[in-house]
Amino acid sequence: MTRPDGQRIRKAVIPAAGMGTRLLPATKALPKELLPLIDVPVIQLAVDDAVESGMDDVLVIVRRGKELLADHFDRQPELEALLAARGKTDALEAVRSTAAGATLHYTRQPDPKGLGHAVLMARHHVGTDPFAVMLPDDVMLGPRPILAQLEEHWVPGRCVVAVMPVPRAEAFRYGIVTPIGEKSGPAFTVADIVEKPDVSQVADDVAWAAMGRYLLDADVFDVLEHMGPGAGGEIQLTDGLRAMAEAGRLTAVAYEGERFDVGDRLGYLKAVISYGLYRPDFAPDLKRYLAELAQQGIF
Ligand code: G1P
Repeated sequence: MTRPDGQRIRKAVIPAAGMGTRLLPATKALPKELLPLIDVPVIQLAVDDAVESGMDDVLVIVRRGKELLADHFDRQPELEALLAARGKTDALEAVRSTAAGATLHYTRQPDPKGLGHAVLMARHHVGTDPFAVMLPDDVMLGPRPILAQLEEHWVPGRCVVAVMPVPRAEAFRYGIVTPIGEKSGPAFTVADIVEKPDVSQVADDVAWAAMGRYLLDADVFDVLEHMGPGAGGEIQLTDGLRAMAEAGRLTAVAYEGERFDVGDRLGYLKAVISYGLYRPDFAPDLKRYLAELAQQGIF
């Protein structure tokens, strides 16, 4: 999106250096970011959202053993020639379009020191530009691209975090945001953000949880650079955002859309079904099948 003042965010960073231990043995050899929802790897959904939101530069943070991620976004001349010769135009388009609209870059996180540390690996590539961060485990399905929704509320120099309401009992799974004053409309200024708080630290029955989409100012690198380990002994992105919130520079946006944690087995299964219902080429048949199951009294 180009703003009236001509400023736009062009770079997106996708941390993809995690081990995927919750999905073993599926992720023993396959990077978890390549697990598909039907025929689309979850990282592809994140890249597509970035491109549809107007970004054309995507940096993926990887580790050793994740080389298949770069293969997915690379050209495959032999396969393309074969599909062209056989007249399989849809498949050819699907193979060619994995990285359409963006240039993909890769850098490694040598040690698993946490999300904040992974984001820090992007510093050299990002420089002083504002940038987006997308956690590929958080699959977002919405009526409009999610980063574009965040950018509608972005002001240069500030950071934006996507949030959604969660019950108090679930707050310990997330970065939890406290608004300043009463919230009106989808965006609000953040007073504080705490990574995985204890339930006793959460005041309300419904808490605002950070979901894995962020727009960040490059100043956050300075904060992350000098920050020690936080929750879980890891360098947390949330703690970097906390410093931005303390400086009055963090906005939260309750975006329109659903979110699935595909790093979790049940979350992954729900994402596959919901994505099937979301896809026009699958929705009619899938709905019929689910209705058949309902008729059999399965639910
Ligand atoms: C990460 C973030 C957390 C955020 C969550 C959303 O946690 O650290 O603030 O709420 O993603 O999925 P993780 O799920 O990697 O533990």
